[in-house]
Amino acid sequence: MTTFAAFLLASASIGFLFANVGAQDQYLTALSDLQQLVTSMDATLQDLKADVQDIKAALQGGCTVGNDATTSGGNTGTTSGGGEVPPSGLLVPSDSGDFTHQAALDESERFILLWKFDSDTITFEAQVQTTGFIGLGFSPNGGMTGSDVIIGWVKDGQAYLTDRYAEGYFLPRLDASQDVELLSGYENGTHTVLRFRRRLRPCDTADDKEITEDTQRIIWSFNDNDPVGLDGPDGPQYHGSNRGSKSIILLQKNPPDLDLQEGNVITFDMINPNVKVPSKETTYWCSTFQLPVLDKKHHLVKVEPILQPGNEGVVHHILVHQCTTGSNPPSGNQECHTMPWGNCRAVMAAWAVGGSGYTYPDHVGFSLGTANDPSYVVMQTHYDNPQRLSDVYDNSGIRFYYTPEVRQFDAGILEVGIQVSQNHAIPPQADTFDSTAFCYKECLDPFLQELGEPIHVFASMLHAHQVGVGVKTKLVRNGVVKTYLGRDESYDFNLQETRFLDPEITVQEGDELITECSYRTTHRPGFTFGGEASSEEMCQNYLQYYPRFKLDHCDSLPEIMHSLSFFGITQIDNNLQVVKPDSMAGTNIGVVLNQHPWTKEEAERLDQHIRSGPVVVKCKGRPGFTNLAGITGQVWNPLPEPTVLMSNSTSVSGC
Ligand SMILES: *[C@@H]1O[C@H](CO)[C@@H](O)[C@H](O)[C@H]1NC(C)=O
Ligand SMILES: *[C@@H]1O[C@H](CO)[C@@H](O)[C@H](O)[C@H]1NC(C)=O
Repeated sequence: MTTFAAFLLASASIGFLFANVGAQDQYLTALSDLQQLVTSMDATLQDLKADVQDIKAALQGGCTVGNDATTSGGNTGTTSGGGEVPPSGLLVPSDSGDFTHQAALDESERFILLWKFDSDTITFEAQVQTTGFIGLGFSPNGGMTGSDVIIGWVKDGQAYLTDRYAEGYFLPRLDASQDVELLSGYENGTHTVLRFRRRLRPCDTADDKEITEDTQRIIWSFNDNDPVGLDGPDGPQYHGSNRGSKSIILLQKNPPDLDLQEGNVITFDMINPNVKVPSKETTYWCSTFQLPVLDKKHHLVKVEPILQPGNEGVVHHILVHQCTTGSNPPSGNQECHTMPWGNCRAVMAAWAVGGSGYTYPDHVGFSLGTANDPSYVVMQTHYDNPQRLSDVYDNSGIRFYYTPEVRQFDAGILEVGIQVSQNHAIPPQADTFDSTAFCYKECLDPFLQELGEPIHVFASMLHAHQVGVGVKTKLVRNGVVKTYLGRDESYDFNLQETRFLDPEITVQEGDELITECSYRTTHRPGFTFGGEASSEEMCQNYLQYYPRFKLDHCDSLPEIMHSLSFFGITQIDNNLQVVKPDSMAGTNIGVVLNQHPWTKEEAERLDQHIRSGPVVVKCKGRPGFTNLAGITGQVWNPLPEPTVLMSNSTSVSGC
């Protein structure tokens, strides 16, 4: 089965390189379907593996209540130094906690997490429908192994909280250093509520994980029984099926969802029309909306999620894509893993789990109602349904607030990244393969000069697909990386949202933008090519800035003949058949690419080869304005990372 799928995938990849356009579409669809199938089989397999691990752990001791302490060393954790975690008295918080963020971690909303943060610490409140113990962890990948875990409970009028580390699928051991502060804890008959605080940059770097602005894989669990002791066979028992993981950007810096004082604010709701959420883990649903027809310019000033009560655990993120002015919008209301995105790609608003919406900076609005503004948008909702519930109907969506009282500046969206193209090729078997895109000053400067002033970037929406694991854009000034215009080293395709930059970042004449995407393809049987289906790849950053200028896209692609020289190919024809060398003449380049003996090392070698070569820059202004031809032949000298921006791993202040 797997081999057959692999064969089909390989032939589909090869096929679509040379097929004519009609057949190519079919190949693309088939490829996309197959890759989705493989991905979902992969996910099921992971689930099954986790279950097997859990059962094994339970059999080996995690669950064998009353077993003597000598059983299977290691599996129940070791009590080192920190074994003495004193219970704290029963505490009921005297205030609401003023939490700024909230998320349901499971579809049934049994585990609700609230949080807030400042520059050094993060405070959580877990409200869980259990009278036993609860666990919350920060995982490297969504699994237990290597996670920084907090387990707490309330028993006989005492609240307990323990800082732990999971070495595998068994009871996480206690950390030698207990670094989570219990603020309050109580039970009310149905729920256990624990409030606690920890540092963002831990002092115990061995066992605690730093919480950054990157996407965090949160794991959670609970069990309806309280532990007898802290550890060993008396410690917290196996959690059974009450467990899961969720990607959340904990440190969302989105400006608060302020109440607009201005009168004259109109709302426009885009609501999913009672969508029956498919009973599968991941669904992308698209609905097209015509924006209000306005007789004069208005400004969109605020974006807010509308979550159907009860569906907070299922609706994971929502993107609003603007369709190019004058283009025909895609019709309908449908699942959309593959869509004709070309005209409706740029993301103008995005909400993700944990957030409550945002207002634009008060001197900025997104223009609606003029000839240059979008008339249609496609709203894409990601449903997260790992329990495969079959009776969920959804009427969630996004509310726009707009006003005729226009603000000082129009916001614009600038798309930077790799040009969406099949020439964007990512080899299989790569631990990390980086694609780098350049927006050179030759493209930016003429538009900045026409505008007559710098632009100020206030938000970013990073976008790669299923094998994307990192996306960032660097601002380069005078050959030095000054800062990032959006950055996530732990990117998750299944969690996309607008991220505000604080402070705003100015892009001026002479500046250049470098966007880097990292991909992991160890599980892919063949090449992954650029494209709009989620099984294909992209590498984009949609920057929101003001004042609006006339540049829409500043993309690049590695120069194809340089890339092909890695395989010894020196000449190809228009049908992507090798012409030279003679030994390969007549072979399709897709065949050559996929026949290469791919290993981690070979993928790394190709990565280096492409980086050392020239790129083609595509610079595209809005219709009616200058489109620069490609700038070819530029070779970029790699720049060091800006050390000053990195957290200092050798010394953490305050420890
Ligand atoms: C117990 O606490 C939870 C979480 O705060 C709350 O939702 C629930 O209504 C409370 N139940 C009772 C009986 O007070
Ligand atoms: C990082 O830590 C080292 C060692 O304590 C110190 O010398 C250096 O100045 C620090 N760098 C920054 C950027 O804080």
